[in-house]
Amino acid sequence: MKLEYADVAKGAAIVALLAGAALSSPAMAQSATGEALYKQRCMMCHTHTPDGRNGVGPGLYGVSGRAAASTPGFSYSPALKASKLVWTPQTLDQFLIAPSKMVPGTRMVISVPDAKQRQEIVGYLASSK
Ligand code: HEC
Repeated sequence: MKLEYADVAKGAAIVALLAGAALSSPAMAQSATGEALYKQRCMMCHTHTPDGRNGVGPGLYGVSGRAAASTPGFSYSPALKASKLVWTPQTLDQFLIAPSKMVPGTRMVISVPDAKQRQEIVGYLASSK
């Protein structure tokens, strides 16, 4: 079969439509936003890759379900080491409201006051196991 330009254009339009539909489904939209927010607000200090590399802050891949201050090779503040916290979506959410309220003396100083944005970032963090 010979493909005419119009067929190709139609095909492209369908692909674009499908991509749009996928992006507008709630689950996709949430993880895309969580990842985007993470890149904007967290990535300059925290990697999020399975190799767990540390930067200015500890690598956060798989952080949900881990004890606080337990990423190997990172030099944590005495405050976070003494916190005895375990990171779950709930404790991560609370931490991000105001890290130094939850753990006075922590060197993590970035807060995310907006509840919806916190939920999206925490959802993104919890998706890596
Ligand atoms: C300016 C650098 C910087 C930015 C930006 C930053 N952090 Fe941190 N973060 C740190 C440092 C440093 C620590 C270690 C704190 C300590 O030892 O008390 C930390 C610790 C943490 C921890 C505890 C990790 C563990 O292993 O116990 C979490 C969770 C965390 N940050 C989440 C985030 C999230 C989510 C964002 C983005 C909204 C973010 N951070 C942005 C520097 C940063």
